[in-house]
Amino acid sequence: MADLKPGNELPIPNRAIILLGPPGAGKGTQARRLAERFSVPQLSTGDMLRVEIAAGTELGQKAKPLMERGELVPDEIVLGMVEHRVSMGDCSKGFVLDGFPRTIPQAEALGEVLKRCGFGRPVVLHFVVDPNHLLQRLTGRRICAVHGEIYNVYERPPKAPGRCDNDGGELIARPDDREEVVRPRLDAYRKRTKVLVEYYEQQGVLTDVDADAAPDAVTASLVGILTRAA
Ligand code: AP5
Repeated sequence: MADLKPGNELPIPNRAIILLGPPGAGKGTQARRLAERFSVPQLSTGDMLRVEIAAGTELGQKAKPLMERGELVPDEIVLGMVEHRVSMGDCSKGFVLDGFPRTIPQAEALGEVLKRCGFGRPVVLHFVVDPNHLLQRLTGRRICAVHGEIYNVYERPPKAPGRCDNDGGELIARPDDREEVVRPRLDAYRKRTKVLVEYYEQQGVLTDVDADAAPDAVTASLVGILTRAA
């Protein structure tokens, strides 16, 4: 198994690591682990949008109804957030992008941002997963309200029902993990995001990862790919 100890340097410094895959593929689970393992920030556009919604900002008010319907938020909203976040000092040695980019215009704009900020070409890790697993992964997901640890009532249940193993925090279900919202989210992936697989393949920066494997095995694959890319 890969060395999961925190505090190590990213083997490919000054790079964006893009986790690409459908809702429920395990991007958030693995982004947390990579960020900890390599001491770089995790940039999740979904989390950023949920923070805006919780704070009741104008941006959050625009995003909320779209996210509730499982639709993508307009590119310009997400791009502004990412550009601002990437310019912060803690991103200078690299970062893990989780849920971004999701459209061709987002990918093109990201390319410009990376060039402008002096980053090398991104490393794109494509999570390949059996689509039949995704509904159960999403409807069964529970997230710790305190530090965001991700559980699954079927695959990775907590020791005490409804409570985080690490800090006892309440485990909550995301409102968009209801089956009627999961289906449009999966549709949005098929119609607007899947095309990025070919986009990044053509640039020679994409590597497939078997995301049907157990979470520790997926982490080991990702760490191996990043180490070999050095
Ligand atoms: P976002 O928050 O990004 O959600 P998502 O992409 O739909 O992805 P998820 O967080 O649902 O899944 P994940 O792949 O992270 O899986 P996880 O690791 O949690 O986006 C939400 C919404 O925000 C979008 O619908 C859109 O409206 C908007 N948005 C966000 N970014 C945007 C953008 N760039 N542009 C426009 N709109 C945007 O795992 C899922 C479950 O599976 C968990 O229970 C976990 O325990 C389990 N699991 C994980 N790995 C494994 C494994 N290997 N084996 C078994 N179970 C596993």
